[in-house]
Amino acid sequence: MINVAILGFGVVGSGVGEVIVMNNAKLAKALGDDITVKYIFDKREFPNTPWQDKVVHDIDVIMNDPEVSVVVECMGGAHPAYDFSMDAIKKGKSVITSNKEVVAKFGHELLAAARENGVGYLFEASVGGGTPVIRPLVKCLVANEIDSVCGILNGTTNYILTMMNKYSESFETALASAQEKGYAERDPSDDINGIDTCRKICILADIAFGYGMDSTKVYAEGITAIRNKDVALAEKLGSSIKLLGRARKEGDKVSVMVAPFIVSRERVIAGIDDVFNAVAFNGNAVGEVTLCGRGAGMLPTASAMVADIIDVVNNGAWNVSWCNPAETPADVLMTPDEVEDKYYVAFAVADNGAAIENVISDARLLSTGDGETAIETPKMPYGELKNKLATLEKNGIKAVSVIRIF
Ligand code: HSE
Repeated sequence: MINVAILGFGVVGSGVGEVIVMNNAKLAKALGDDITVKYIFDKREFPNTPWQDKVVHDIDVIMNDPEVSVVVECMGGAHPAYDFSMDAIKKGKSVITSNKEVVAKFGHELLAAARENGVGYLFEASVGGGTPVIRPLVKCLVANEIDSVCGILNGTTNYILTMMNKYSESFETALASAQEKGYAERDPSDDINGIDTCRKICILADIAFGYGMDSTKVYAEGITAIRNKDVALAEKLGSSIKLLGRARKEGDKVSVMVAPFIVSRERVIAGIDDVFNAVAFNGNAVGEVTLCGRGAGMLPTASAMVADIIDVVNNGAWNVSWCNPAETPADVLMTPDEVEDKYYVAFAVADNGAAIENVISDARLLSTGDGETAIETPKMPYGELKNKLATLEKNGIKAVSVIRIF
């Protein structure tokens, strides 16, 4: 019998319980053994449910029970999730998590501890929700040097942008509906400010490049400044606005960032809507591989976590590690100002393409009217764009929206 303990019985934790019950026969076949949820650790009681007898409020009941071989951490937040995970590993239990914050911050430590204790620390659900992203990177693409990883990594913001685009919904209405559907974080500002995407792209960059990324220091822009006007103009230009996490090798350096991008519909990821995520890897042998699926929600996320349980029981730990972010050489990471892109810029002036062209040469006029002028800039470092926009502002030409072009 494989006895599992679930820490945190919210949207994701209860989904793990549901999948273990719903697909129990299939899972037993995959494991060659029966599987059950022995404990649920939560502050709440869940009376009159099949789970009521499994609830414990003392974590030591789980830690000291040698029958529990797998702990599924769905608590969210850095603490006590990290502390419980480390304790479980030291007690010889494998840990499965969906907790991006813990993996991004402490993944290097927890993986090292798991190796020392002969158990696994698996975290497929921490990136991409139900979409297999980490295992393909760790296993299927292991023969490649990875040149870049880029994708839509947050279901909530992709859902909001889709609702703004397809149904002209306001930002606030779309966010409320994403929360209702169980997509958003407990604190949805982590979604809309790009922090959740940032943790996820840092985890992928950690694995792809072996350097530990400090997600609190990586440039992250969210979608709160995106206006329905920008979404409509992108649509008119045959593009969509997507919040992307992007990590790429640039010579000897690495750039990692999160920002909204205008993506031409000729690219696969421009058509990835709703709560779906998509991640494109570029490997030096395989070329581009794009994976797509549901990036958040109860059962999709549980699907990834239960697959991790089966994997760790059948195959043990993943062979993956990265260095402590504090030990990543400072000169490896490009600063946001050094990174080059093309940009869409909307200015709060009508018909002033010529004055803008004086400062941003080779700008392409995209639209004028409604009191605004929108242009596409040539490729330039972000620092250079900021200087040019400051010069224009001094001349009374103020940028009201800046979005990178993918
Ligand atoms: N809030 C996250 C999202 C949940 O919307 O993608 C899945 O990580």
